[in-house]
Amino acid sequence: MTGKTFYITTPIYYVNDVPHIGHAYTTVACDAISRYKRLCGFDVCFLTGTDEHGQKIEQAADKRGIKPKELADQVVQRFAGLWETLNISNDKFIRTTDELHKKAVRKIFNKMKENGDIYIDHYEGWYCTPCETYLTETQLLDGNCCPSCRRETSKLKEPSYFFRMSKYGDALLKHIQDNKDFIKPESRRNEIISFIKDGLRDLSVSRVTFKWGIPVPDDEEHVIYVWIDALTNYISALGYGEDDEDFTKFWPADYHVVGKDILRFHTVYWPTMLLSAGIELPKSVFAHGWWTVEGQKMSKSLGNAIDPTWLVEKFGVDAIRYFLLREVPFGLDGDFSFKALIHRINGDLANDLGNLLNRTMGMVNRYFDGTVPAYSEAGAEDKTIEETAERVFKDVDEHITNMAFNKALASMWEFVSSLNKYIDETAPWALAKDEAKKERLGSVLYTVLDGIRMVSLLLYPFMPTTAEKIREQLGTGKELVKTSTQDLRKIRTLESGHKLGEAEQLFPRIDEKDMLEFLKQEIDSEKKDDEGQPVVEEIDFSHFEKMTLKAVKVLECEKIDKSDKLLKLQIDMGSEKRQVVSGIAKSYKPEELVGKTLVLVANLKPAKLMGTLSEGMILSATSDGKNHRVLELPDSVEPGTDIK
Ligand code: ME8
Ligand code: MG
Repeated sequence: MTGKTFYITTPIYYVNDVPHIGHAYTTVACDAISRYKRLCGFDVCFLTGTDEHGQKIEQAADKRGIKPKELADQVVQRFAGLWETLNISNDKFIRTTDELHKKAVRKIFNKMKENGDIYIDHYEGWYCTPCETYLTETQLLDGNCCPSCRRETSKLKEPSYFFRMSKYGDALLKHIQDNKDFIKPESRRNEIISFIKDGLRDLSVSRVTFKWGIPVPDDEEHVIYVWIDALTNYISALGYGEDDEDFTKFWPADYHVVGKDILRFHTVYWPTMLLSAGIELPKSVFAHGWWTVEGQKMSKSLGNAIDPTWLVEKFGVDAIRYFLLREVPFGLDGDFSFKALIHRINGDLANDLGNLLNRTMGMVNRYFDGTVPAYSEAGAEDKTIEETAERVFKDVDEHITNMAFNKALASMWEFVSSLNKYIDETAPWALAKDEAKKERLGSVLYTVLDGIRMVSLLLYPFMPTTAEKIREQLGTGKELVKTSTQDLRKIRTLESGHKLGEAEQLFPRIDEKDMLEFLKQEIDSEKKDDEGQPVVEEIDFSHFEKMTLKAVKVLECEKIDKSDKLLKLQIDMGSEKRQVVSGIAKSYKPEELVGKTLVLVANLKPAKLMGTLSEGMILSATSDGKNHRVLELPDSVEPGTDIK
């Protein structure tokens, strides 16, 4: 299948900060559409990466007393690791410190210069380092604050190279007006149109007051402006200026997906740079909305930025992927709350989807000894399923292509509901009572199994692991082969006569109250300050006194099923025996703990972790939250002894 290519990109993320759910959001969205396009037979290039140059990174590294490149090398691991955790299927990962990238930046800069669009002058004005943005006096808010991030800007007066961006205003405006899809959604497009109509100024494209960046060719005093550097990643990653094979194949990009915070860079700076260098413009830039957390802006100082790795540990990767794309229309702002997340998991995933699979597996096991029956006797009800399937496949395709992920998922759930309804209407349990209706019973269950197979196909781009698990239970190959949009939609392709796999619950229900309480405790213990250091709050002695610490002896210890972090301990507290769950399984084998005398926070409210009751908390030392050393007391200390 040649010719059908699809190139999609995320922003490249700054390495001054560790990833949070905002970064996860964009990347998961791009992953879902990439997986869908691959499934439909497209040759996909999905690019993500990191933005490692600029004053902001230099300052962040200075603060930590390390070199910018060392900081980048550390943080890039966090991003790459998160993408693995989130099952991100990117084909390329670009770092702006890669040699190939630097070469491409010099090349595009030279091209712009050759075309007479770069000149030297002086820049006098304001600069917002957190946003890496030049600002005019009139743009500032309350004195000298950045209109975008509201932090203080600094005044610059330095020699600078400029890009004749003003020259391209009319051409850009025409391009946007002629190409409806160039900026999406519509409201954002209008915003940019009026910005351009106000007139474009020339853009300062170099700095001399710091060093961390790519030097201007032939004038090493200057470092190329970090946005010129960063935007070029979309072509440098394809080998622009080096080996043009991928560039020829994939450029222009089908989609640059970005948050609304950086739309202007992508729809004004980037296209005018490309116009100047004589390179085709991307087909579409999509700006999605902004996430808040429990109604608040996410920020380091509030310490409320949510670590996606932590979320995945608590809820599982597919629940998070599902929630991010289901909860909020792509393009609109959204709020992350644990309550909403738990509702989605319990309602959509555990109830609707989980039950459909469970009850069907149960009936096939009961009535057909776990063998997929044949479709041999059609019934009136089957028509609805056929029609719903056809419509849903069509709708999902349209919605994904328009980045309406929430609608695509809603359509899928329409299909899930119609399968649940089909079961209720055909009442297999009633058919099973009459031997003469065995053929129809088989056909009904076949129809549902085949429907679940189709659901697994549609789900795959959003929840790849769940899709795989469903296919394993159906006893069909778990691998999904590339196909065409047409083939994907074929019904009744599930083979009959083979055994189902083992039935397993996909999404255990979460006890909302227990979970919220547990999360609150965890979050309170992990609050970080501006520098990412844990917040140390002074407390009164009376606060400390409220805590009951006891010496306890470990009697038994075992791993908790399906958790690689948790151990279950039975402990002797002198007057009583208790059960405690502790997140130290990565640091201790269960048998290593038996017989040890440890320290227990004994008056913590009991909580359930992965469904297991925990009455207290074992104290341990940890520098990263992963490796733990428990606090051990000498054997001579009797269980139950108070610790003061
Ligand atoms: O801007 N809600 O990098 P960055 C939704 N290096 N999305 C969010 C978000 C939130 N609260 N917070 C972050 C940069 N994002 C530049 C980009 S591209 C050539 C250079 C996502 O680390 C969203 O995609 O600040 C946003 O555009 C991006 O992270 C900003 O990441
Ligand atoms: Mg940012």
